[in-house]
Amino acid sequence: MKINKKIEDAINKQINAELYSAYLYLGMSSRCTEMNLKGMANWLYVQAQEEMTHAMKFYRFVLDRAGHPVMPAIDGVSTDWKAPLEMFAAAYEHEKKVTGMINNIVDIALAERDHATASMLNWFVDEQVEEENNTSEVTEKLKLLGESKDGLLMLDKELSTRVFVDNTQPAGKPQP
Ligand code: FEO
Repeated sequence: MKINKKIEDAINKQINAELYSAYLYLGMSSRCTEMNLKGMANWLYVQAQEEMTHAMKFYRFVLDRAGHPVMPAIDGVSTDWKAPLEMFAAAYEHEKKVTGMINNIVDIALAERDHATASMLNWFVDEQVEEENNTSEVTEKLKLLGESKDGLLMLDKELSTRVFVDNTQPAGKPQP
Protein backbone atom coordinates (compact mmCIF):
# COMPACT_ATOMS: atom_id res chain seq x y z
CA MET A 1 0.00 0.00 0.00
CA LYS A 2 1.33 3.45 -0.96
CA ILE A 3 2.53 5.47 1.99
CA ASN A 4 0.27 8.36 2.93
CA LYS A 5 1.44 11.96 2.73
CA LYS A 6 1.52 12.62 6.48
CA ILE A 7 3.80 9.64 7.12
CA GLU A 8 5.87 10.30 4.01
CA ASP A 9 6.54 13.87 5.27
CA ALA A 10 7.46 12.66 8.76
CA ILE A 11 9.86 10.01 7.44
CA ASN A 12 11.43 12.43 4.96
CA LYS A 13 12.07 14.75 7.90
CA GLN A 14 13.62 11.84 9.78
CA ILE A 15 15.95 10.99 6.85
CA ASN A 16 17.25 14.54 7.13
CA ALA A 17 17.58 14.24 10.92
CA GLU A 18 19.57 10.99 10.64
CA LEU A 19 21.91 12.57 8.06
CA TYR A 20 22.27 15.55 10.40
CA SER A 21 23.18 13.08 13.17
CA ALA A 22 25.90 11.59 10.95
CA TYR A 23 27.20 15.10 10.31
CA LEU A 24 27.09 15.96 14.02
CA TYR A 25 29.15 12.89 14.98
CA LEU A 26 31.58 13.45 12.13
CA GLY A 27 32.19 17.00 13.41
CA MET A 28 32.85 15.59 16.90
CA SER A 29 35.10 12.87 15.51
CA SER A 30 37.22 15.39 13.64
CA ARG A 31 37.64 17.41 16.83
CA CYS A 32 38.75 14.32 18.79
CA THR A 33 41.31 13.54 16.08
CA GLU A 34 42.67 17.08 16.45
CA MET A 35 42.85 16.55 20.23
CA ASN A 36 44.79 13.32 19.66
CA LEU A 37 42.00 11.26 21.20
CA LYS A 38 42.00 8.67 18.44
CA GLY A 39 39.83 6.13 20.28
CA MET A 40 37.03 8.66 20.79
CA ALA A 41 37.47 9.82 17.21
CA ASN A 42 37.00 6.19 16.13
CA TRP A 43 33.90 5.70 18.30
CA LEU A 44 32.28 8.85 16.91
CA TYR A 45 33.26 8.00 13.34
CA VAL A 46 31.60 4.58 13.71
CA GLN A 47 28.56 6.36 15.17
CA ALA A 48 28.44 8.62 12.09
CA GLN A 49 28.53 5.51 9.88
CA GLU A 50 25.64 3.99 11.88
CA GLU A 51 23.60 7.17 11.44
CA MET A 52 24.06 6.92 7.67
CA THR A 53 22.59 3.41 7.77
CA HIS A 54 19.62 4.74 9.77
CA ALA A 55 19.00 7.38 7.09
CA MET A 56 19.26 4.70 4.38
CA LYS A 57 16.80 2.41 6.18
CA PHE A 58 14.19 5.19 6.17
CA TYR A 59 15.08 6.13 2.58
CA ARG A 60 14.58 2.55 1.35
CA PHE A 61 11.31 2.31 3.23
CA VAL A 62 9.90 5.43 1.52
CA LEU A 63 10.80 3.97 -1.89
CA ASP A 64 9.50 0.49 -0.97
CA ARG A 65 6.14 2.10 -0.15
CA ALA A 66 6.02 4.02 -3.46
CA GLY A 67 6.73 7.33 -1.71
CA HIS A 68 8.89 10.19 -2.85
CA PRO A 69 12.07 11.01 -0.86
CA VAL A 70 12.93 14.71 -0.67
CA MET A 71 16.42 16.02 -0.01
CA PRO A 72 16.37 19.40 1.75
CA ALA A 73 19.61 20.97 3.03
CA ILE A 74 21.28 19.43 6.07
CA ASP A 75 22.02 21.95 8.85
CA GLY A 76 25.65 22.69 9.69
CA VAL A 77 27.33 21.42 12.88
CA SER A 78 30.12 22.51 15.20
CA THR A 79 33.69 21.29 14.73
CA ASP A 80 34.95 23.46 17.60
CA TRP A 81 34.08 21.42 20.66
CA LYS A 82 36.16 22.27 23.73
CA ALA A 83 36.27 18.92 25.56
CA PRO A 84 35.11 15.29 25.24
CA LEU A 85 32.56 15.71 28.04
CA GLU A 86 30.95 18.60 26.17
CA MET A 87 30.67 16.41 23.05
CA PHE A 88 29.29 13.27 24.67
CA ALA A 89 26.84 15.19 26.86
CA ALA A 90 25.57 16.93 23.68
CA ALA A 91 25.41 13.54 21.94
CA TYR A 92 23.25 12.13 24.75
CA GLU A 93 20.92 15.14 24.59
CA HIS A 94 20.75 14.74 20.82
CA GLU A 95 19.81 11.06 21.08
CA LYS A 96 17.00 11.86 23.53
CA LYS A 97 15.69 14.35 20.98
CA VAL A 98 15.87 11.72 18.21
CA THR A 99 13.95 9.27 20.41
CA GLY A 100 11.21 11.89 20.72
CA MET A 101 11.10 12.28 16.94
CA ILE A 102 10.84 8.52 16.39
CA ASN A 103 8.08 8.26 19.00
CA ASN A 104 6.24 11.05 17.22
CA ILE A 105 6.30 9.12 13.92
CA VAL A 106 5.04 6.02 15.76
CA ASP A 107 2.13 8.12 17.06
CA ILE A 108 1.33 9.30 13.52
CA ALA A 109 1.59 5.76 12.09
CA LEU A 110 -0.77 4.39 14.74
CA ALA A 111 -3.25 7.26 14.27
CA GLU A 112 -3.20 6.58 10.50
CA ARG A 113 -3.54 2.81 11.11
CA ASP A 114 -0.37 2.26 9.05
CA HIS A 115 0.86 -0.95 10.65
CA ALA A 116 3.67 -1.50 8.14
CA THR A 117 5.26 1.80 9.18
CA ALA A 118 4.64 1.09 12.86
CA SER A 119 6.32 -2.31 12.46
CA MET A 120 9.35 -0.81 10.69
CA LEU A 121 9.61 1.82 13.42
CA ASN A 122 9.83 -0.84 16.15
CA TRP A 123 13.42 -1.42 15.05
CA PHE A 124 14.17 2.27 15.65
CA VAL A 125 12.38 2.31 19.01
CA ASP A 126 14.69 -0.50 20.18
CA GLU A 127 17.73 1.10 18.56
CA GLN A 128 17.13 4.37 20.40
CA VAL A 129 17.34 2.60 23.77
CA GLU A 130 20.86 1.53 22.77
CA GLU A 131 21.73 4.94 21.30
CA GLU A 132 20.77 6.71 24.52
CA ASN A 133 22.53 4.12 26.70
CA ASN A 134 25.77 4.26 24.71
CA THR A 135 26.08 8.04 24.77
CA SER A 136 24.96 8.27 28.40
CA GLU A 137 27.49 5.62 29.49
CA VAL A 138 30.45 7.46 27.95
CA THR A 139 29.19 10.78 29.38
CA GLU A 140 28.98 9.30 32.89
CA LYS A 141 32.48 7.78 32.60
CA LEU A 142 33.87 11.14 31.52
CA LYS A 143 32.21 12.78 34.54
CA LEU A 144 33.72 10.13 36.83
CA LEU A 145 37.25 10.52 35.57
CA GLY A 146 37.11 14.32 35.98
CA GLU A 147 40.51 15.89 35.30
CA SER A 148 42.40 12.57 35.30
CA LYS A 149 44.57 12.33 32.18
CA ASP A 150 45.25 8.63 32.86
CA GLY A 151 41.51 7.98 33.08
CA LEU A 152 40.93 9.84 29.83
CA LEU A 153 43.61 7.82 28.04
CA MET A 154 42.15 4.55 29.38
CA LEU A 155 38.66 5.48 28.18
CA ASP A 156 40.10 6.57 24.84
CA LYS A 157 41.71 3.13 24.49
CA GLU A 158 38.42 1.42 25.35
CA LEU A 159 36.55 3.40 22.69
CA SER A 160 39.15 2.55 20.05
CA THR A 161 37.79 -1.01 19.86
CA ARG A 162 34.39 -0.10 18.42
CA VAL A 163 33.86 -1.42 14.90
CA PHE A 164 31.16 -0.54 12.39
CA VAL A 165 28.47 -3.15 11.73
CA ASP A 166 25.42 -2.44 9.59
CA ASN A 167 22.65 -3.92 11.73
CA THR A 168 19.81 -2.32 9.74
CA GLN A 169 19.72 -5.08 7.14
CA PRO A 170 19.04 -8.78 7.61
CA ALA A 171 22.19 -10.74 6.74
CA GLY A 172 22.48 -11.45 3.03
CA LYS A 173 19.86 -8.96 1.88
CA PRO A 174 21.34 -7.02 -1.07
CA GLN A 175 21.48 -3.20 -0.96
CA PRO A 176 19.56 -1.33 -3.69
FE1 FEO B 1 19.95 7.36 14.32
FE2 FEO B 1 21.51 8.08 16.82
O1 FEO B 1 19.89 7.85 16.03
